[in-house]
Amino acid sequence: MRIDILCLFPEMFVSPFGYSITGRAQERGLVQVFTHNIRDYAHDRHRTVDDYPYGGGAGMVLKPEPMFEAVEDVRSKCDFAECPVVLLTPQGRPLTQSIAAELALSQRIMLICGHYEGIDERVAEQLATDQISIGDYVLTGGEIAAMVLVDAVVRLVPGVLGSDESAVGDSHSDGLLEYPQYTRPEVFRDWEVPAVLLSGHHGEIAAWRRKQSILRTAARRPDLLASATLTDKERIWISENS
Ligand code: 6GU
Repeated sequence: MRIDILCLFPEMFVSPFGYSITGRAQERGLVQVFTHNIRDYAHDRHRTVDDYPYGGGAGMVLKPEPMFEAVEDVRSKCDFAECPVVLLTPQGRPLTQSIAAELALSQRIMLICGHYEGIDERVAEQLATDQISIGDYVLTGGEIAAMVLVDAVVRLVPGVLGSDESAVGDSHSDGLLEYPQYTRPEVFRDWEVPAVLLSGHHGEIAAWRRKQSILRTAARRPDLLASATLTDKERIWISENS
């Protein structure tokens, strides 16, 4: 997969993608991340990318010309010209695991990071194919949101995770939060690992984990239960236990 990120601060991306799974995915050639400075597409010698909002108001708005030219230039430099162009904005649809999984199927994605008070609406309407937010709070710019999106997508690109890191049991992969995990020692400061996990009974362990996932989701994210995949028996069990 090739990921092109258009933003005002490309330097921000160097270290976050240099480590761990994203770093390894790039070393192994499974993913290539390129960053581009929108300022390189400005039309004047001051490299101006923003201007005052029509109609007045506080702050500056990112101009459309550099954005369009940046996307068109980057697009022309590689095959798969047709690809998702995602604008990162607090006004976008909230990022979910299923959106990440869908994007992970693309051979190429382009990400546009907004900044300042906003971005000319023609970029959102005519250039972006999708608008995504990473949550209901405001960041100073789209760069950190783009990093979050890239991280969530890259780990789902086929071959990136080893079988022992599989995404299958991840929180959110089946609409439920993940069950609690433990490792050695068996007793730490008098706190014991649940006995069932030491029992060697695979069936009982799987059943315990499933129940823990459901209980945890009911307690912390009841909003998720409505669309989670649950059996009738499990739904009855929830109503009796929460
Ligand atoms: Cl994508 N951008 C900004 N600036 N703030 C955000 C966001 C994006 N998602 C949540 N907050």
